[in-house]
Amino acid sequence: MFVQQNTIQALFIYVKAKLEGCFSEFEIRNIYKSLICKRLRWSDTDYLLNQEHRLSESDLLFVRSCINRLLKNEPFQYILGETEFFGLNFLCTPSALIPRPETEELVADVIKTMAHVESPKIADLCTGSGCIGVSLAKKISGAKIVLTDISEEAIQLAESNAKLNEVNVECLIEDLFSSSAFKGWEINSFDCWVSNPPYIPFTEKSEMEKNVLGYEPHIALFVEDANPIVFYQEIITHAKLYLKRNGWLFFEIHPNFSAEIVSYLKNHGFVNIELMKDLQGRIRMLKGQNA
Ligand SMILES: C[S@@+](CC[C@H](N)C(=O)[O-])C[C@H]1O[C@@H](n2cnc3c(N)ncnc32)[C@H](O)[C@@H]1O
Repeated sequence: MFVQQNTIQALFIYVKAKLEGCFSEFEIRNIYKSLICKRLRWSDTDYLLNQEHRLSESDLLFVRSCINRLLKNEPFQYILGETEFFGLNFLCTPSALIPRPETEELVADVIKTMAHVESPKIADLCTGSGCIGVSLAKKISGAKIVLTDISEEAIQLAESNAKLNEVNVECLIEDLFSSSAFKGWEINSFDCWVSNPPYIPFTEKSEMEKNVLGYEPHIALFVEDANPIVFYQEIITHAKLYLKRNGWLFFEIHPNFSAEIVSYLKNHGFVNIELMKDLQGRIRMLKGQNA
């Protein structure tokens, strides 16, 4: 055994020694608690009340292997296989981006804006894990929600997340740029489209964290430097056709490209355009209404 005793407390001392220097003590405690609760199917209360519990050899090996993966920069959400988003549990696999806290702010604004629309029809384009669309389905009663993504694996994950959160959504594998995208969709029928598409130019790759670059899918992150707003242009052009008059379009955006996206929206007849800041005060979201 690589620890002298097999209690929860004794294993924590081992984990802390391994992770110190990479994580704060607060983070290490949370990581450890999450691993133990996941492995033993415990609640936080079980964890607090059972510090003298003795772990099996395979429990010890499980924790050690997770810690070794963490030390190789693998994101903790992929190791754990799940994360929390908008107060809901979401499965996480390397086939989709890990849901980010700033995206929760986008979801909150869509919910606020849709509050006065009865049974709104909403599309979440480039859905990845389904975090946006599934949260909207959970929080907006009667909403009719479609999720699309080019990646078959991402759509399978979004379907699993819809099931996990007990919501009904329609999931479609669609390449936004294909001539068959949106085929069969009813014109002027949507109350809202929302999207967090890929938006990081390849030139920014060198500034990115190892855990993102090494593990998250590049198809979810990067766009060609020549036109970093290409996804927004494609979505805006189609949104004009499929949104109802006064229907809303919501985007998560790269702060550097807000002016170009606003200008494209204006040129396509969108009104009431509003840029929104995240909790750190950076412009990260945008909405506009189909006139
Ligand atoms: C930034 S991720 C967003 C994931 C999720 N909406 C979120 O907020 O966490 C972008 C997503 O766009 C998808 N994507 C990339 N190219 C696409 C395309 N041509 N058509 C449709 N989806 C695409 C990727 O598979 C990825 O899931």
